[in-house]
Amino acid sequence: MLSGKKILVGVTGSIAAYKSAYLVRELIKLGAEVKVVMTHSACDFISPLTLSTLSKNPVAIDFVKDEEKGIWENHVDLGLWADLFIIAPVSANSLSKLVSGNADNFLIATYLSAKCPVWIAPAMDLDMFKHFSTSDNLKTIAANGVSVIEPTSGELASGLEGKGRMEEPEVIAQLIHEFFMEDSVLKGKNVLITGGPTYEAIDPVRFIGNHSSGKTGILLADECAARGAKVTLVTGPTNFKVKDPNIEVIQIKAATEMMDVVEKIWSQMDIGIFSAAVADYRPKNQAEEKIKKSSDEMTIELVKNPDILLWAGNNKKNQYLVGFALETENETENGFKKLAKKNLDLLVLNSLKDKGAGFGGETNKVSFLSTDNKIKSFELKDKSHVAADIVDEIENNLIDNSTDKL
Ligand code: PMT
Repeated sequence: MLSGKKILVGVTGSIAAYKSAYLVRELIKLGAEVKVVMTHSACDFISPLTLSTLSKNPVAIDFVKDEEKGIWENHVDLGLWADLFIIAPVSANSLSKLVSGNADNFLIATYLSAKCPVWIAPAMDLDMFKHFSTSDNLKTIAANGVSVIEPTSGELASGLEGKGRMEEPEVIAQLIHEFFMEDSVLKGKNVLITGGPTYEAIDPVRFIGNHSSGKTGILLADECAARGAKVTLVTGPTNFKVKDPNIEVIQIKAATEMMDVVEKIWSQMDIGIFSAAVADYRPKNQAEEKIKKSSDEMTIELVKNPDILLWAGNNKKNQYLVGFALETENETENGFKKLAKKNLDLLVLNSLKDKGAGFGGETNKVSFLSTDNKIKSFELKDKSHVAADIVDEIENNLIDNSTDKL
């Protein structure tokens, strides 16, 4: 995910300008904050309104924002704002201006002010792309540190076939994602994630369970893997699947099975994120055959399950441990108690009182409770964004405490 990343998208005059709308949408989907800067010529191909709607930000085109009031748009601020500036598409004309530093429009002036990495995705007809002027310009701009995303081959707007098609927006967004994930502190770290419900068998047919869908555990696993971590996911029954084939998925049913796995591997882990909804009790005896309907009432004797997170907290060495708390009352107070009792570094609190939060569903609303008694609360979000927020918080805390942990 790209949450917290500021991406400036530059659009120049090319038939491929329509692809910039998809690029902005992909970047927003990945959680980035996006602003767009366009040349006048680009506005002939795609409306600034489309791009401002998709990016949720005004689009910058001119040095003067409001002709009447004479308010100056600040290309320096915009250039410094961005964590990455991607100009897609870049036309042959704009490429030449970027190389020569011909700042006769707002986009080029912004480029000259940018201190962040700059990427360009050229789009032009095949003969324009092959021309020595273009190839010389591309060599010069690459030699000066700008990353060039090569165009692909195929049918061009002219009707000719050849190299010159702007790379697909999904591919560019993925490349940007990988670029930011490369220097993640999670790279190469061993991360253990617990997820899903546990099923505590009563007999071969029935069990005591809960409403966890396992989605949160799956998304956390994918998020950590995308940042280069070696992930082991121990999950209760779930219909969801991880995207990354490198994630080791260990499927369990009962809490005692989850405990066995965690006991074996916890010492090899750098980070633990315990999102599983573990049943606190299990039937004392499990009938070998299906229990028959014999009387009007039935009592099942329960015994306590091991508290897996508590065990991990008690056996924590130089490891970073995150627990969850699902509460229905006195949420914050109970959350802080769990943070201390289970020796956690971070607690993710969700409450069933918040609409759209907790079990099942696509969304959650969480707060982070930390050992310095601070609370960070988030609005209701898609669970994939919640997972990204959690992993961002872990990364930031590891960077801040780089000497004590790991
Ligand atoms: O799977 P989803 O449908 O996406 O739902 C996500 C979720 C609601 C399950 C998730 O957001 C969540 O809140 N998980 C923790 C649920 C829970 O069991 O909370 P708790 O307050 O009972 O437990 C506190 C912590 O101790 C949790 O980290 C839990 O994993 C851990 N625990 C609890 C009991 C136990 N015996 N062993 C444990 O490890």
